[in-house]
Amino acid sequence: MSLFANIVLLAIESSCDETAAAVCVGGVIKAHTVATQDIHKKYGGVVPEWASRLHIQALLPVVTEVLAQAQVSLKDVDYIAYTEEPGLMGCLLVGKNFARALSVALNKPALPVNHIYAHALANFIDNPGLTFPFLCLSVSGGHTQILHGLSPHTFHIIGETLDDAAGEAFDKIAYMLGLPYPGGALIDKYAEQGDPNTFVLPVPKVGGYDYSFSGLKTAVRYLIEGRRQKEADFIAKHLYDICASLRRHIVLILLTPFFKAAQNLGIRRVCLAGGVAANRLLRQKFSETATALGYASFIPDKAYCTDNAAMIAMSAYLCLNVGKSRAN
Ligand code: KG4
Ligand code: ZN
Repeated sequence: MSLFANIVLLAIESSCDETAAAVCVGGVIKAHTVATQDIHKKYGGVVPEWASRLHIQALLPVVTEVLAQAQVSLKDVDYIAYTEEPGLMGCLLVGKNFARALSVALNKPALPVNHIYAHALANFIDNPGLTFPFLCLSVSGGHTQILHGLSPHTFHIIGETLDDAAGEAFDKIAYMLGLPYPGGALIDKYAEQGDPNTFVLPVPKVGGYDYSFSGLKTAVRYLIEGRRQKEADFIAKHLYDICASLRRHIVLILLTPFFKAAQNLGIRRVCLAGGVAANRLLRQKFSETATALGYASFIPDKAYCTDNAAMIAMSAYLCLNVGKSRAN
């Protein structure tokens, strides 16, 4: 039995616009809660200063709630894990200071966690049998990367976006379509009712296993502007078809280099991670392609794809188990 079989971890995530906390006991998530900051919808994107101020307000209630849900009291907590990087500087500082203050008050170690690795490690939450190495397609609002996971703290970047992240492309195009921020999930929802063959979009010319999404944004802008000259209500009339065409296109762009890399690296296990991994078509095509190519495939529950603290807790737990967590 692992030395850490019964440890109680309290985890905090505050890297962007979600204030989240989780309790993990012996590697099992007992409770997790996320407070989303709706104020950013008004601005069409995250306003960093608002985000950090709202984390200050939300952290204590969120932590109190998660401890109550898990039926754990502060004195039972053995470690406090928090997101150290990457993210918005002010937001990270709020979470880090909160965690470190708790650490001093409780005399328990604080464990810094890498947010990007945590997205990938979220795959262990419902699949404790997953083993390293694996290849992970990590797609969110801030990053798009193909990661070769060798251990809980060792990931090699095999490919990444040269400009916008996939989630950023979804959100920026959603904004052009008049949808509220962040629009990725709404595009996914509307796409269910549209015909993905309606509009043809350009495939970016990028070498190796890298990505590019900025040209897609421009292509959609030209499409909308061109069609609006003849049809003023073009967006309203074709919203579902635009969403379906866009979604299928982004999924195709994401999967092609990923599975090429998997084949060239001789990988046996593939994982999906990040907020965009909540996308229905991406989940379906990822699993289908992996199965067709003979890989074992893993996708976190949707609640563990978008930003959450359960993934921070799981990362800290896995790092502790391999003796590599850096308590501070
Ligand atoms: O991982 P995440 O919660 O935050 C970052 O670390 O960036 O990812 C947020 C991104 C946003 O761009 C959001 O639009 C996108 O994930 N997203 C989706 C879906 N749900 C969230 N994109 C496409 N389809 C979805 N169902
Ligand atoms: Zn994230």
